[in-house]
Amino acid sequence: MSLIEQIRESEKFISDQLSGQTPSIGLILGSGLGVLADEIDNPVTIQYHEIPHFPQSTVEGHKGQLVIGELQGQTVVAMQGRFHYYEGYSLQHVTFPVRVMKQLGVEKLVVTNAAGGINESFNAGDLMLIEDHINNMGDNPLMGKNVDELGPRFPDMSQAYDRDLIEVAQKTADELGLEVQRGVYVGNSGPTYETSSEVKMLRTLGGDAVGMSTVPEVIVANHAGMRVLGISCISNMAAGILDQPLSHDEVIETTEQVKQQFIQLVKQTLQSL
Ligand code: HPA
Repeated sequence: MSLIEQIRESEKFISDQLSGQTPSIGLILGSGLGVLADEIDNPVTIQYHEIPHFPQSTVEGHKGQLVIGELQGQTVVAMQGRFHYYEGYSLQHVTFPVRVMKQLGVEKLVVTNAAGGINESFNAGDLMLIEDHINNMGDNPLMGKNVDELGPRFPDMSQAYDRDLIEVAQKTADELGLEVQRGVYVGNSGPTYETSSEVKMLRTLGGDAVGMSTVPEVIVANHAGMRVLGISCISNMAAGILDQPLSHDEVIETTEQVKQQFIQLVKQTLQSL
């Protein structure tokens, strides 16, 4: 079955469970940030494993579901849990849900993640509006024959993160009295955290934060002509910046602490999108 047919089948499976709602905004919720989906009103929840052609989640205990409903007056489709390259999926599989979102009618995509801070003026617990990214995964979800119905062979990535959406989020943060950072997100494959030398290299290359997601989804969203807003939760300072080892527990703990600010920022921003 062709990729387009797979996308259409997934989309139909999902649409058939909705009573006519058309989500116009997609949310991809990163580690620890999935709680936002719990605030969606009149939710229709669909497990990933039920949806035809969706990748099957490998990580036990991770929620893997789509939540479709109303949030701040907008009809949204949220991914509570995402797929990562380091889990062994191809980038085509990692990004399949983005293509299904597009088919459902999504025009704007809000992508979130937890990331390590590389910019030394950042602190653990900061939120960062993503201005641009560096694809350091050594792969690209658009490899292979281009499907022209889905987007162009050589997509423009010069404004991968929509400037107007960044300004809306910035204005919202200002109104809420939240200080947010802005910067460049580097996407690594993981699953290892970086060495100190790699972090120095990424800083020299212009990175402000580093993580193991987001870049593939944003590439496919741009290919599909969607407008993207990206927000990182700086869950820790990247390796070597502080004199301490990194742990997944620290990432979870910090995300837990700033979750409320993050939720506030995304919800308020949604209102103005
Ligand atoms: N590096 C890579 N990915 C991450 C980090 C980090 O320091 N923190 C959270 N995700």
